[in-house]
Amino acid sequence: MFYLGELPLSSNIFCAPLAGCSDLPFRRMTARYRPGLIYCEMVKMDALVRNDPNTYRLLDYETEMHPIGAQLCGSKPQLAGPSAKIIEDLGFDVLDLNCGCPVDKVTKDGSGSGLLRNPDLIGEIISNMVAAVKIPVTVKIRIGWDFNQINCTEIVSIAEKAGAKAICVHGRTRSQGYKGPANWDYIRACKETAKTIKVIGNGDVMDAKSALALFESTGCDAILIARGTMGQPWIIEDVYRILAGQPPLIRTFLDYKQAVFEHFQHIVSYQNERKAVTDMRRVGCFYLKNGKGARKLREALNRSKSTAEIHQLLIEYPWEEIDFTATELLEPVLATD
Ligand SMILES: Cc1cc2nc3c(=O)[nH]c(=O)nc-3n(C[C@H](O)[C@H](O)[C@H](O)COP(=O)(O)O)c2cc1C
Repeated sequence: MFYLGELPLSSNIFCAPLAGCSDLPFRRMTARYRPGLIYCEMVKMDALVRNDPNTYRLLDYETEMHPIGAQLCGSKPQLAGPSAKIIEDLGFDVLDLNCGCPVDKVTKDGSGSGLLRNPDLIGEIISNMVAAVKIPVTVKIRIGWDFNQINCTEIVSIAEKAGAKAICVHGRTRSQGYKGPANWDYIRACKETAKTIKVIGNGDVMDAKSALALFESTGCDAILIARGTMGQPWIIEDVYRILAGQPPLIRTFLDYKQAVFEHFQHIVSYQNERKAVTDMRRVGCFYLKNGKGARKLREALNRSKSTAEIHQLLIEYPWEEIDFTATELLEPVLATD
């Protein structure tokens, strides 16, 4: 059992907030593999307090997704308490503050990774959240704004003092975006700085082996997997297996086929026709990106105009000709194990 404050979680393997991606259909896929915690996409404090319906929709969840976290993005301390309370009242188990989003649109008012340049404000926002709710508050940061302003360890102490129960450290600067490898040395430094706050390591966990390596090289308390969950929701199960000393399972074309169909059904049941088509073009690419022999299906999905057409494509494609095993890094065993 892993604790965030008083909250018991079944494991320390978490699924990341992914704007435009970790929506309800996506979370239905990952929840099956029982991660310790699943975060929804980030939502803006301003939009939440003004009752924007699209923002509320990003926070849709189902009972099976508990324990579930919401993530708030904003830089106004006066909105931190009221928006945190809304999240708690919606039934969320954990609340996170986004201090990592690198997008200009977000950082221009000092939100997201813009907060890294104002660590005291991070402390103030967290304090206001902690005062407003009983659920544990966490914070997600990058290691700094750029390589001249690396301040993650300073923020660890500020967040701890403000009452956050965990800090998730993405081992890249804001200036890096998603380029270059995540630098796990800074995650280790954060863990060494932390007294009571838990440190969640994040960055470049794409398979079970890299999950194990992140734990071993940083001593972090938990890990958060982001892009690694896209198109392989079973990565959670693979990580559990490797931590238990077992190799991950081989996922054959049948596993991928089933997952794509399931994800497609979840999208169709949740989105309107137009959104379902654009989502499925994107989601199909996640699953198919590493499949040798999947190019034609990927291209056809990208051109598709309706869910009926997508359904037909998925049914008619010779899935048995796609090889998904070529990219496995470990010595996997059969999925029937
Ligand atoms: C498409 C996409 C959307 C993301 N959305 C969010 C978000 O809403 N909130 C957040 O804190 N991080 C977000 N991130 C960052 C990830 O949570 C994570 O920190 C980053 O991808 C590094 O982890 P990884 O190497 O495991 O992907 C996003 C990343 C991607 C690729």
